[in-house]
Amino acid sequence: MSNLLELCPRCEASILKRVEVAHDIDVSGSVVRLPKVQAEECPACGFRSLSGREVRLFDVLFAPQYQTIRELIAALKTAGYVGMFLRQDRTESALAFGSRSYVRELDDGVRDLYLDNESSHVIEGLGAIGTGWVPVELASRRLTVKLPRLGEGENGIVYDVKEADDSVLKLAKPRPYSRNHLKEENEVTGFFASHGIPVPEVVEADPNGSFMIKKRLAGESLARVYETLGPPDAPLHRLVRATTERFIARMLELFVAHPEVKTSVSPNNIFVLVEDSTCRCLLVDTGPAPLHDYSRFSFAEYWETTIPQKIRQYRAVGYL
Ligand SMILES: Nc1ncnc2c1ncn2[C@@H]1O[C@H](COP(=O)(O)OP(=O)(O)O)[C@@H](O)[C@H]1O
Ligand SMILES: [Mg+2]
Ligand SMILES: [Zn+2]
Repeated sequence: MSNLLELCPRCEASILKRVEVAHDIDVSGSVVRLPKVQAEECPACGFRSLSGREVRLFDVLFAPQYQTIRELIAALKTAGYVGMFLRQDRTESALAFGSRSYVRELDDGVRDLYLDNESSHVIEGLGAIGTGWVPVELASRRLTVKLPRLGEGENGIVYDVKEADDSVLKLAKPRPYSRNHLKEENEVTGFFASHGIPVPEVVEADPNGSFMIKKRLAGESLARVYETLGPPDAPLHRLVRATTERFIARMLELFVAHPEVKTSVSPNNIFVLVEDSTCRCLLVDTGPAPLHDYSRFSFAEYWETTIPQKIRQYRAVGYL
């Protein structure tokens, strides 16, 4: 991943812990067990995913010398899988997402590994460059993204785009959970828009959830503006607080009627736009958060305790 530390994408409550686990790969009906693979685990909710650092193993799985699955499995077994983690990272190749028809034809057992590998290659590549404009090949076209990134959350990293200054590119973090987040984000964006919640329009979405292009939202996230509002009785503070309270109340009503669109109302997901002393809230991230329980939600607690806590967490993992 891009950061040393990552927040759990499922419960958003805890920093993921590195663990070693056995991992089974199903290749055309044959199961290859890798006895010791690096994974990340959430101490709070039990979420577990292969670590983005381990995905180079796909390079070995798809090394061209293995003509057939049988040969590949034999090679993996003889290698005791160990050698596959010692490969050097690619450094010369362009930052690119490959052909989506190739991805479609991959065996189910290795598709996620391929996609993890692809995203981790692009994200780590961008992270290593640091600043400036960098081309990224997206299956269908090339975009030039601006570094450093515009924003980051538990599931994705978001970049400004040179070719369309009204749009941003969001890349999913290299794990199936986060790609699924982007896929569902794409699916439910229209629902929110049609229910009067302002959301950024989706311009283009990868069918695998690896990336999407969205309209750039005006305003700033609540996580960024919160500490600039002044004391609780300052007019700006009161305006933003009251607007956010109404906005969240409306969203929670919507989640009761339509639990399938439940998202996280974290301060990273809510945008605040203040113009001529009027304030509006927008929902920047429509991706699902099915584990969230809003049955005892208290806005006062959210505003006074949860937001500062979230900001501290985002800083600790480098999202802010
Ligand atoms: N459409 C957008 N316009 C402007 N900024 C954005 C946009 N989408 C995301 N961002 C920035 O990136 C951050 C993370 O995006 P988000 O969609 O919440 O990712 P995640 O799915 O990881 O939670 C946001 O808090 C915001 O700062
Ligand atoms: Mg988010
Ligand atoms: Zn968790």
